[in-house]
Amino acid sequence: MSVEIPKVTLNDGQTIPSIGLGTIDLMGNKGILQILDAVKAGYRLIDTSTNYDNEGIVGKAVQNSGIPRDELIISSKLPGKFHDFDGALKIIEEQLARTGLDYFDKYLIHWPNPDDGKYVEAWKALIQAQKLGLVKTIGVSNFLEHHLEKIIDETGVTPATNQIEIQPYFHNKENVAVNEKFGIVSEAWSPLGRDLNDAKEHPDLVEIGNKYNKTAPQVILRWLHQRDIVPIVRSGDPSHQKDNLAIFDFELTNDEMKTVFALDKGEDGRVEGQHPDEYHEYV
Ligand SMILES: NC(=O)c1ccc[n+]([C@@H]2O[C@H](COP(=O)([O-])OP(=O)(O)OC[C@H]3O[C@@H](n4cnc5c(N)ncnc54)[C@H](OP(=O)(O)O)[C@@H]3O)[C@@H](O)[C@H]2O)c1
Repeated sequence: MSVEIPKVTLNDGQTIPSIGLGTIDLMGNKGILQILDAVKAGYRLIDTSTNYDNEGIVGKAVQNSGIPRDELIISSKLPGKFHDFDGALKIIEEQLARTGLDYFDKYLIHWPNPDDGKYVEAWKALIQAQKLGLVKTIGVSNFLEHHLEKIIDETGVTPATNQIEIQPYFHNKENVAVNEKFGIVSEAWSPLGRDLNDAKEHPDLVEIGNKYNKTAPQVILRWLHQRDIVPIVRSGDPSHQKDNLAIFDFELTNDEMKTVFALDKGEDGRVEGQHPDEYHEYV
C-alpha cells in the first residue's frame, strides 16, 4: 500500500508533494527498478538533472510506472553551460527527448554561477519555456537573496521553489527565511547529509526517534516537514524509501526541534563546502 503524501501549494497555484525522491546515483537498469520501487511506495515527485546522468532512466521509470502522467511531478535542472537564452531552450528540448516526456512538471536553474553573470538570461529562458509549455512550474536552486532579488527585479517573475542544501549540520536558516519572504517554497537537497557526514546516526536524533519508534533519518525529515521545507531525499533501498515517507504520523515537540537546531555548524557544516557565490557547476 502506498502512502498518501500531503501537498504543498506553490506561488504559481500548482501543487507538489511535500517530499520528493532524489536520484543521484540511481542509474542504469537498476536505477529504473529503484525508482519504480519508490513510486510503488508512494513517491510522486522525482528530482533529476542532466548532471546525474539518469534523465533517460527517470523517463523510462515514468513510462513503466503505470501511474497517470498528470499524477507525477518530474523535476529537472538547467546545466550551467546553458545559461544563454537560446542554449537553455535547446537543452530543455534535448532533456525532454532524453526522458521521452512532453514536458517537465518542474524545472530549476541548477546553480547561479554568478561569475558568468548569465543567470538572469537563464531565468528569462525558463519563463519562455513555461510559456511554450515545455515546463510547468519554474524555480531555481542554490539561489541566495541577491540572486533572487536580481531575477525578480529584472523579470517580475518570482520562482516557485528554491532547492538548497539543508541538513542537520547546515540549516541554511537565512536562505530559508529569504525564500519565505519571497513566497518561495524551500526544497532541501542532501537532507540526510548524503554519506558525507554522520547526521543519519547522530545519537541525539536516534534518541528522539526512539521515543516515537522512528529512525534518525525520519526525525530529520520530520524536522524539515515541520519547517514547511520539502525534503528531496534519495534512497535506492525499498525499506528506506518506505521509512522516509512514514513521517506524517508523529510530531516533534518544540524542545526536540531545538535539539535538532542545536546541531547546526554554520558554514562548516556544508556537505561539500559549495557556497553558491563561489561554487560553479557546468553540467
Ligand atoms: N540542487 C542541487 O544542487 C543538489 C545537490 C545535491 C543533491 N540534490 C538532490 O537532492 C537529492 C538528495 O541528496 P543526496 O542524494 O545528496 O543525499 P541524501 O538524500 O541526503 O542521502 C542519501 C543517502 O542516505 C541513505 N538513506 C536514505 N534514506 C535512509 C534511511 N531511511 N536510513 C538510512 N539511510 C538512508 C541513502 O542510502 P540508501 O540508498 O541505501 O537508502 C544514501 O546513501 C539528490 O539525490 C538530488 O536529487 C540536489
